[in-house]
Amino acid sequence: METLHELFSLTGHIGLVTGASSGLGVECAHALALAGADVALAARRGERLARLAEELAARYGIKTVHVPTDITSDDELDRLIDAVQSKLGIPDILVNNAGISPTGRAEMLPRSTWDAALATNLTAPMMLAQRVARSLIEARKPGRIINMVSIYGLVASSIYRLSAYTATKAGLANLTRQLAVEWAPYGILVNAIAPGWIPTEATEAGMAKSHNRERMERATPLGRLGQPQEIRGAVIYLASAASSYVTGTVLSIDGGYVAW
Ligand SMILES: NC(=O)c1ccc[n+]([C@@H]2O[C@H](COP(=O)([O-])OP(=O)(O)OC[C@H]3O[C@@H](n4cnc5c(N)ncnc54)[C@H](OP(=O)(O)O)[C@@H]3O)[C@@H](O)[C@H]2O)c1
Repeated sequence: METLHELFSLTGHIGLVTGASSGLGVECAHALALAGADVALAARRGERLARLAEELAARYGIKTVHVPTDITSDDELDRLIDAVQSKLGIPDILVNNAGISPTGRAEMLPRSTWDAALATNLTAPMMLAQRVARSLIEARKPGRIINMVSIYGLVASSIYRLSAYTATKAGLANLTRQLAVEWAPYGILVNAIAPGWIPTEATEAGMAKSHNRERMERATPLGRLGQPQEIRGAVIYLASAASSYVTGTVLSIDGGYVAW
């Protein structure tokens, strides 16, 4: 690696981002496209994906595909992979970003809420990762998988009642390590990003209560919430040659939240 471009360029690569219809998923897609990758977008709200796909193609001159997908359906995941492979090729960068964060007192949490969190935050990333890994292994190609966990996959939340969320994100963090170990021989590097509190549709309602925002800011050494764009650098790093000796790690993008 002799130039900055060689270190961080994703030209010639194909990224697949779930949850690309809002929030951090939009930023992940921008990050991959900015570094030159062609990008496939998945989520349920297809119109939003279509608009982002058009914007990325126009702004970065890359190829895009958007596939409305409910990631909790195995059939829809199969259709997603088929569509990406036929339009762009085998995705070699998967960003498992989609997630839900239901709240509710642990002692009252309905079984359906628990099941939905498990299906979206843990089962779906595994089902998609195994589909992508199988294609890469068969094609003898290396790849990158980036799982979006959370500070609340590393520590508990004192502010919100998030039992299903914390459990599934912690599961995804350790799944990241296990997949990194199992797929290292194939050159598939698996890492996770653990964001702190960043304003998005998912966090807006909670943040509207000003005392919550203040508590989060006080609990963060940098003294502020994150901005969605601040996720981009980590995505490019973990997808590019710059992180060629990094696997099985969880990179916190949290203003220092889990440091103390
Ligand atoms: N923002 C934060 O402070 C923060 C902090 C730590 C971790 N995270 C994690 O970062 C990720 C993105 O969160 P965000 O804040 O950007 O939230 P968001 O704006 O609510 O975005 C969530 C995304 O997930 C997608 N999604 C949810 N269920 C889906 C399903 N069944 N099938 C397909 N897509 C589905 C949604 O798309 P559709 O509704 O269109 O399907 C949406 O694009 C999540 O995994 C979250 O846990 C966020």
